[in-house]
Amino acid sequence: MSNAVQTHSNDTFKKRVFSGIQPSGGLTLGNYLGAVKRFVQMQQEDYETIYCMVDLHAITTWQDPKKLKHNTRELAAFFIASGIDPDKSILFNQSGVSAHVELGWVFNCVARMGWMKRMTQFKDKAGKNAENASLGLFGYPALMAADILVYHATHVPVGDDQKQHLELTRDIAAKFNHDFGVDFFPMIEPVIGGPAARVMSLRDGSKKMSKSDPSDLSRINMGDDADTIAQKFRKAKTDPDALPSEEVGLEGRAEAKNLISIYAALGDQGVSDILSDVGGKQFSEFKPMLVERAVEKLSPISQEMARLMEDTSEIDRVLAKGVEKATAIAIPVLKETYEIVGILQP
Ligand code: TYM
Repeated sequence: MSNAVQTHSNDTFKKRVFSGIQPSGGLTLGNYLGAVKRFVQMQQEDYETIYCMVDLHAITTWQDPKKLKHNTRELAAFFIASGIDPDKSILFNQSGVSAHVELGWVFNCVARMGWMKRMTQFKDKAGKNAENASLGLFGYPALMAADILVYHATHVPVGDDQKQHLELTRDIAAKFNHDFGVDFFPMIEPVIGGPAARVMSLRDGSKKMSKSDPSDLSRINMGDDADTIAQKFRKAKTDPDALPSEEVGLEGRAEAKNLISIYAALGDQGVSDILSDVGGKQFSEFKPMLVERAVEKLSPISQEMARLMEDTSEIDRVLAKGVEKATAIAIPVLKETYEIVGILQP
């Protein structure tokens, strides 16, 4: 490589999507509607798409070594069963491309302690005993920025809870470009929105649906069978009123809003379209419609996941190929970063 530092202007970046999910076990309807469903859509659009199982992020909190490999393969099965086509998208696990960690280190040196301390997800995950959280959990967003920027990705589809991390990614890119006087890393665009950007708990409409909620009734898991899905929606918290026919009528009714949003997102419809159909109905009438749609959309995915998990050699082949393709994009970006920073690369 020559000593000249190559620069880019924003519009020269190729439209490239990157996103990741942690293989920390347990996949929920929130992961599907808030993330993977959109990943599949973007794969069909005019983007190059790269999707990653972020195993190195997963170990920022304790993972049972006996389960991590299984969870990583299961996540790959979830991607594929949901419609990610390994011939169209690059699908791989993060640890396979060491450039993530190398760029992550450079970003550790760019990001400021104060920025990290403001991350609400760190505060939530570390809980009351932050002194006892891993250093990896604290530095997590810098590695996440590296995941994205090592591909010069331009668009990042995520659920609403990742918004602050993506703002930090932009801050890191901007500070790097400014400090070194280059226009090297793109200003990424978060892709967040639609009715399912924040799928809420079925037991408490003010809390996010999450695999870590102690109550299994609070979430739909991607492996739940039809009876379990039906039971969970039947028990889902609601209020005594009939459904409104317009969106304003959902204000202050978090649980109603959540169930309607899930129904809309599952059917690729808007909330207002749904309300014009179901307005006036009681939950006792609406819930069976929701169950039917959820089972119709989710069962084929769980069945295909189970099939793929019967013989995981195909998954391993897909991931090995993905690592190869991802490495080919990441290495030149890493080398150019080192060049910009002034690292000797004999
Ligand atoms: P993770 O593994 O917690 O979640 C994966 C994706 O699922 C979305 N999601 C939800 N969306 C709507 N409603 C919910 N209840 C819900 N629960 C989860 C998340 O927003 C996310 O999009 N830090 C990331 C992983 C990551 C990453 C990246 C993402 C690492 N590097 C680079 C994008 C780009 C995380 O912990 O996601």
